[in-house]
Amino acid sequence: MIYICCLVNFKKKMGKSVQGFSKLTKLEKIDWLIKTFFNSDENIKSTLKQYWNSNKVLQNLHDDFIENTISNFYIPFAIAPNFLINEKEFTIPMAIEESSVVAAASLVAKFWRTRGGFKAKVISSTKIGQVHFMYEGDKQKLYDYFSIKKEALLAATKDITKNMQKRGGGILDIALRDKTEDLKNYYQLHVTFETADSMGANFINSCLEAIAKAFEKEDIQIVMSILSNYVPECLVHAEVSCNVEDLYAENSKELAEKFVQAIQIANAEPHRAVTHNKGIMNGIDAVVLATGNDFRAIEAGAHAYAARSGKYKSLTNAKIENGIFKFWIEIPLALGTVGGLTKLHPLSKLSLNLLGNPSAKELMEIIAVAGLAQNFAALRALTTTGIQKGHMKMHLTNIIKQLGASDEEKNFLIDYFEHKTVTHNAVVEAYNKLVKDK
Ligand code: HMG
Repeated sequence: MIYICCLVNFKKKMGKSVQGFSKLTKLEKIDWLIKTFFNSDENIKSTLKQYWNSNKVLQNLHDDFIENTISNFYIPFAIAPNFLINEKEFTIPMAIEESSVVAAASLVAKFWRTRGGFKAKVISSTKIGQVHFMYEGDKQKLYDYFSIKKEALLAATKDITKNMQKRGGGILDIALRDKTEDLKNYYQLHVTFETADSMGANFINSCLEAIAKAFEKEDIQIVMSILSNYVPECLVHAEVSCNVEDLYAENSKELAEKFVQAIQIANAEPHRAVTHNKGIMNGIDAVVLATGNDFRAIEAGAHAYAARSGKYKSLTNAKIENGIFKFWIEIPLALGTVGGLTKLHPLSKLSLNLLGNPSAKELMEIIAVAGLAQNFAALRALTTTGIQKGHMKMHLTNIIKQLGASDEEKNFLIDYFEHKTVTHNAVVEAYNKLVKDK
């Protein structure tokens, strides 16, 4: 009996497996999808096709970004105006699906604009890659081999680093690291890079593979060669400050203190720190995405940095000193303004253009500011009105749309909730009453 059940389940599973899928055309892939998962429902095909771009060249460009593309998944693209960063004006592009993030960034940009704006500075821009290998022999012999070989390792990357060196980048150093305390026989070549205006992933990985090839010998077993997305030496600092009494119209001192306490709580309690940093990443990811950068790499690196002391903590800090409130962020951001999607995706290109075609370092400063602004908005709301008031105010239109309201009904409901607390139930009730009273 058990055997028959397993056989039926196996057959069911096999019915959904497919060979050579990657070789099918886009339409053939969709046909397989709807036949296999949606009972050949043609509505699914229409849903996917309605997001195809009518400009075939543009659609092909997007199809080729990834593999097995069947449609486009839209994320809203917005702008947050009024940022003043290092005395320069910026309107920041943001790609994000979550309501209230862009409004919050815009609000905070306006707020700090009248208090001197944001100051930002890149602290360091070094990136890291590693050749991981196993070696069982005598340690001293390995160190001797490395010292003799080091020049040859650099020479092995000459063709790859030639152009990067012209742009002021290249390999900064190669170090042999003994990791045998963490894992038996494990060593690494720890390589530091400067990659100028590129994020440098391909450049770093190509260098590492060339280095590994030149380093390998009978008793050295190379396991892998790959860049690290943990870049604590690719660090940027951004801050705002003002007299405590200028922070709020009323109860300024008390609210400034609450701000400091909110950061202390995040540092004391990882459950809070994760949410606190999530709010920061709302702003950071949105600009990272809009400028064609890799938000997964940024996320991984930022959270690792938040946990660098061994405890997961806040990425931002606040203090009150001599009557001055200061709020700042320090975050590792490995970004590019050339290479990858940055100039390939028409909207990333536009975003960079909007930002005045910044260097990678300038982009680090802008994006750190976006994260700091987002955290300021969230903490300001959390320590005063609570987050739901503003968040739900922004989310109101989404709820109204879900109810299928007409434009006229939508406008009525927006007016109706102008001075009322928005909750899902309250909106449903108001809508139902509106429809009933008609
Ligand atoms: P408000 O004071 O009600 O806004 O704030 P307002 O209607 O008075 O408008 C003032 C300004 O805000 C506007 O100026 C805009 O700059 C901006 P204007 O353009 O009129 O000259 N603004 C908008 N911009 C674009 N579209 C809009 C819009 N509305 C206002 N529709 C606001 C409302 C939502 C901004 C405020 O309540 C706020 O900042 N709330 C915090 C929202 C927030 O942090 N959202 C992030 C998502 S929540 C989350 O996931 C993270 C979290 O868990 C992190 C954590 O726990 O730390 C909270």
